Amino acid sequence: MARYKIALLPGDGTGPEVLREGVKVVKAAAKRFNAELDTTRYDFGGDRYLATGEVLPDSAIEELKGYDAIYLGAIGHPQVKPGILEQGILLRIRFEMDQYINLRPVKLYPSVDTPIKNKGPEDIDFVVVRENSAGLYTGLGGIARKNTPYEIAVQEMVYSRNEVDRCLKYAFETARKRNKDSKLTLCGKTNVLTYVYDLWERAFHDMGQKEFPDIERDYAHVDAITMWMVKNPEWFDVIVTGNMFGDIITDLGAMIQGGMGIAAGGNINPEGVSMFEPIGGSAPKYTGQNVINPLACIFAGQMLLDHLGETEAADCVEKACVAFLESGKLPGLSAKEIKEGGSSTSAIGDAIADYAATA
Ligand code: IPM
Ligand code: MN
Repeated sequence: MARYKIALLPGDGTGPEVLREGVKVVKAAAKRFNAELDTTRYDFGGDRYLATGEVLPDSAIEELKGYDAIYLGAIGHPQVKPGILEQGILLRIRFEMDQYINLRPVKLYPSVDTPIKNKGPEDIDFVVVRENSAGLYTGLGGIARKNTPYEIAVQEMVYSRNEVDRCLKYAFETARKRNKDSKLTLCGKTNVLTYVYDLWERAFHDMGQKEFPDIERDYAHVDAITMWMVKNPEWFDVIVTGNMFGDIITDLGAMIQGGMGIAAGGNINPEGVSMFEPIGGSAPKYTGQNVINPLACIFAGQMLLDHLGETEAADCVEKACVAFLESGKLPGLSAKEIKEGGSSTSAIGDAIADYAATA
């Protein structure tokens, strides 16, 4: 039997509620395929920060490096100034654990509504590989002449060839592994950001020609891609892009696949420890009400299993989610619909765990 050590970071707001259901389903699927997850909870988040003044203890990163994966609920607390927890927990883990890929599947499941007219699950099935450690998120820059009319602020978009190459390599490999259209689209802005995206474009074609001749290469400017993602989502198989553009287009991706209640992501260090999370926020106003939709967190659990190499268990989670979605038992994806429809976070988790264990 394979055993894995998983760090749980429930976080803030409704994070603990969705993570509880995610763990329930992931454990049920793993058990079926003879794998076991040993979970350890960490209380990093807003409440701990308000009580102790500490966001992430210095020992945390070293400790987290000892796990096979990290499973996160949500970060964001209404009484904590925006940015403190996001930077002190989420971004710090991403950076210090060198999780340089943000992997975001954009997949429309049957029985899930997309706001795009005349598009269905056969049209919306691609993944975004977002560079997750550098670019505009590097934190290089500054402010001078603060609070004068002459104040200036600079925030640099920084990329080294190595940072670009390692991200591209992951993206090309993802296109190969998916074995769908064998197509990789670079999303950039070569007409204006003539240094950074010139580097990306040269690196993209260099690597494609030399190492991935079987993968078709395509290019789209970031503004145009927001249009194509809505108008022709079926054009995409794998999209690769820098950190900031990736942040923006993956929220658009989440919307076309049914919203934040469905969308999951992985912060991946292909050589180290990776972290999986639902990409919606902590939805604090629903805390403790047992009405928040746990599907996104369950899909994050599917990604976690897949990353561990437990592909059968991962497929089982996905199939269980699809079976549940098709059962008609879900009154809707939003907390309001779940509440008014008489369902609940734990009932959804129980039903999916049941499918995962038996169906
Ligand atoms: C995301 C989030 C984060 C980001 C925030 C919370 C720092 O929006 O995971 O997409 O900008 O990367
Ligand atoms: Mn984002």
